Amino acid sequence: MANQKESPKGFTHERIETNNFLMIVLIVLVIAVGGLVEIVPLFFQKSTTQPVEGVKPYTALQLAGRDVYIKEGCYACHSQMIRPFHAETMRYGHYSLAGEFVYDRPFQWGSKRTGPDLARVGGRYSDEWHRLHLIDPRSLVPESNMPAYPWLERKQVNAEAMPARMRALRLLGAPYTDEEIANSVEEVRGKTEMDALIAYLQSLGTAVR
Ligand code: HEC
Repeated sequence: MANQKESPKGFTHERIETNNFLMIVLIVLVIAVGGLVEIVPLFFQKSTTQPVEGVKPYTALQLAGRDVYIKEGCYACHSQMIRPFHAETMRYGHYSLAGEFVYDRPFQWGSKRTGPDLARVGGRYSDEWHRLHLIDPRSLVPESNMPAYPWLERKQVNAEAMPARMRALRLLGAPYTDEEIANSVEEVRGKTEMDALIAYLQSLGTAVR
């Protein structure tokens, strides 16, 4: 209809469109309801709250490696999120599933891809490949512009800090047993940040292929 007609109660669209305050209130209301309808179900859906079969919480060493990954800012160049597009699945493997990230706090999806996506890099290369690559990326990929991380081999992981980290994650839902938490110090003691980071990288995306 081209012309607006008075409704029975004399309330026209024009009244909303010419009243800033009313317009703002109604917009906020519409967005709030729309947002809730979209977001709230995600907290209860099985596909977003249950781990995909085979996904386990990180071992103490992998968890320490994940901290190194975050500390060194690897996420600034690497995403961990394979989108469901043909070109991506051809290159990286099965697209990422929400249930693969239930133990990732915080998740490392990222949005910047200066380097390749790492969501399924686990098992793609040998531990030795990763070691050489992290010490000097250009020794393996001459055109690489990834920084070198030679100090990772000289720094030891703080083993004593692991039980507290794992207990915090257990509070958030990771099913660690008391035994796993108690053994974490021994598991990690004497390991370098390089060992831990490689253990983490080798675990990425291996539950789904
Ligand atoms: C400045 C950007 C940048 C940063 C920061 C960076 N990378 Fe990279 N990374 C790259 C680029 C570019 C490549 C592709 C060339 C190569 O393989 O070296 C790459 C490749 C890789 C690969 C091989 C992936 C594959 O599928 O071939 C791994 C594994 C990797 N990076 C891990 C890391 C880790 C771990 C860190 C943090 C310690 C890190 N990167 C930090 C840019 C970066």
